[in-house]
Amino acid sequence: MFGKKKQVSTIDKDQLELIEYAQKRVRQKKRLYIHFVVFLIGAVFLILANTVLGIGKDFTIAGINWFVYAILLWLFLFVYHFVNVFITNKFMGKDWEKQQLDKLVSQQQKRIDKLKEGFLKEERKIAQSQAYNETHPDTKPEEKKNSNELTIIVAAGEDNAIGKDNDLIWHLRDDLKHFKKITSGHHIIMGRKTFESFPKPLPNRTHIVITRQDNYKVPEGVIVVNNLEDALDAARKDNQPFIIGGGEIYKQSINIADKLELTRVHATFEGADTFFPEVDSKIWKEISRETHDADEDHKYAFSFITYERK
Ligand SMILES: NC(=O)c1ccc[n+]([C@@H]2O[C@H](COP(=O)([O-])OP(=O)(O)OC[C@H]3O[C@@H](n4cnc5c(N)ncnc54)[C@H](OP(=O)(O)O)[C@@H]3O)[C@@H](O)[C@H]2O)c1
Repeated sequence: MFGKKKQVSTIDKDQLELIEYAQKRVRQKKRLYIHFVVFLIGAVFLILANTVLGIGKDFTIAGINWFVYAILLWLFLFVYHFVNVFITNKFMGKDWEKQQLDKLVSQQQKRIDKLKEGFLKEERKIAQSQAYNETHPDTKPEEKKNSNELTIIVAAGEDNAIGKDNDLIWHLRDDLKHFKKITSGHHIIMGRKTFESFPKPLPNRTHIVITRQDNYKVPEGVIVVNNLEDALDAARKDNQPFIIGGGEIYKQSINIADKLELTRVHATFEGADTFFPEVDSKIWKEISRETHDADEDHKYAFSFITYERK
């Protein structure tokens, strides 16, 4: 129990690789240094062999003694060795090859991930439309569910607050304009309580109200359905139907929506009683953002953020 404690190495793999690399470089430089010393001694020896000992005294090429050629050849080999240690090793050594390979692999991986993302999106749309067509076999071909883009539109505080006492908590003129601009001409799907928070139906939009009540009375032109599926069914010809709230309907539709048009109001709202679900960055990808400061018409700063399902 109290025996000698076994030493545990605290050096991790990266550190070990660095140490090995440093040792390898030291060995390479040492060999180059020895080569240099041997070259100097060898050159002196070649000169002495020819001039003092008279070896090959009469052997010349183009009038130049043979030892000059021998020294030049050796010098060339030394330069080659030098280049290998300081230049080629850096750019074309095994480490360099590994780096290039890693780079290529990571580029390929990015491309594969992008393709996968595209396939998954396409697969989801096909599955949605197949499921719809199977459950609605009598639908005319032109009415079959096509790839429409179900979009949630919402304004939420930093704490995801969206309402209080069945009303909005803020009045932001430009956000209302933004809402009008992007929903005009489309179907807008909402819960009964949100519908009742409007003084009257909004112009130039087809209202679809979801309620569990059987005889819920609405003005002419407003469609009443008893569940979210029927609401989507009623909007099937629209290429971009909007879910406009409130909290209950957002919660039920966030997992099937394709797009989010979020107005993020940069404030928190104590006392709010209705909230938007958390926007999960693993599921939603931000594709655009436009920020507005607070001013005399806008008590709070806010940002229009568009997300698409990843
Ligand atoms: N900030 C924003 O962008 C924004 C947007 C919209 C709304 N809001 C706010 O949100 C609040 C209202 O939201 P909320 O959550 O209280 O109500 P809501 O979602 O608008 O409506 C809830 C009602 O919808 C019906 N419903 C819900 N799920 C259903 C289902 N599966 N099948 C059939 N009917 C269903 C029920 O109606 P019945 O009770 O009749 O059965 C339910 O009471 C308000 O404060 C409003 O101002 C904010």
